[in-house]
Amino acid sequence: MTKRICDIESDEASTEVVRTTVEQLEWMKLGIALLRPLTGQPAIDTFGDSFPPEARDAVDQADCTLFGSTSGLSGGLAYLRWGKKTFANYRPTRYVTGMRSPLRDPEGIDFVIVRENLEGLYPGREGDIADLAPLGLRDGLTGGVLDTSARGKYAVRIITEENTRNVCRAACQLALKRRAFGNQGKVTVAAKYSMLAQSDELFRRIAEETVAEYPGLTFQQLIIDNFAQQMIANPHQFDVVVMPNEHGDVMADGAAALAGGLGLAPSACIGRDYAYFEPVHGTAPDIVGMNIINPTAMLLSAKWMLDYLGFEDAAARLEQAVYAVYAAGKHLTPDQGGSSSTTEFCAAVRAGL
Ligand code: IPM
Ligand code: MN
Repeated sequence: MTKRICDIESDEASTEVVRTTVEQLEWMKLGIALLRPLTGQPAIDTFGDSFPPEARDAVDQADCTLFGSTSGLSGGLAYLRWGKKTFANYRPTRYVTGMRSPLRDPEGIDFVIVRENLEGLYPGREGDIADLAPLGLRDGLTGGVLDTSARGKYAVRIITEENTRNVCRAACQLALKRRAFGNQGKVTVAAKYSMLAQSDELFRRIAEETVAEYPGLTFQQLIIDNFAQQMIANPHQFDVVVMPNEHGDVMADGAAALAGGLGLAPSACIGRDYAYFEPVHGTAPDIVGMNIINPTAMLLSAKWMLDYLGFEDAAARLEQAVYAVYAAGKHLTPDQGGSSSTTEFCAAVRAGL
């Protein structure tokens, strides 16, 4: 079965990790066909558009997209998230021996943040406070009327029932799958349901209802600030943690730091009929062209992609080969305390495949 992958290298140093990850996949000879549309600066140079219709067609024709990272919404990210409705953003944190964690006892940390990927404060619906005057909005806590004479901006935050249910189901299904591999079978919801007693309370309630539909899963709820504290003080307690979009954006970067940094943190964005895979990190402009960017986040994102495409054995092999490089500790990149290049790290992964 040939699967088609749209390969989007994106910007700056992310091109280096996408390229090397694709080489790794080609080397594994899995029966994958690559579509490589022009995007970003090369597409601007050729078409005057960072994400031209040709790129959109390639995304549509592929089974999924492997994406680098972009500093803004240009170059396809908006289409991959909102156009393709990839509502569940999985951001795993798993420590393995050899990673440079700042914690004293990181052994065994293994949880996945499932971030709602489409709504909340995204994609950014903002305006002047004065425009809200006709609405006569009242404060949830004090009952006071919003002072619309103040000069400033507002942002709209949306939590829909349908999307929340979708992402909570995705979290539950992941927890079940992980339970089969010895994980706890626990879903935690983290949101600000105390203060946001309508929107985040809706998210919390739907999470609770959804987990109850899955016998064998346990449920935990935490206010998001408490979650932040517990994620650092006692991360071992978590298995799958579901949360609204912007909470997940912030917490996932924090979670990555627990294992040893953003260079280690992959992600998978999966909707009903499409998915794309990108590292949590940005474009690392400070190390462009130096061949020292850590490819782990991208390689592990590819691991999630192989799982999604049905190449489970290859996914497991790739993951084990990456972890083996950490266990051996000889070919680590500078962010992990090593002195190897991106290329040397990848060569070590390949040797273990
Ligand atoms: C991420 C990034 C994006 C986000 C940006 C690039 C829009 O920070 O994927 O976490 O905020 O979602
Ligand atoms: Mn982010």
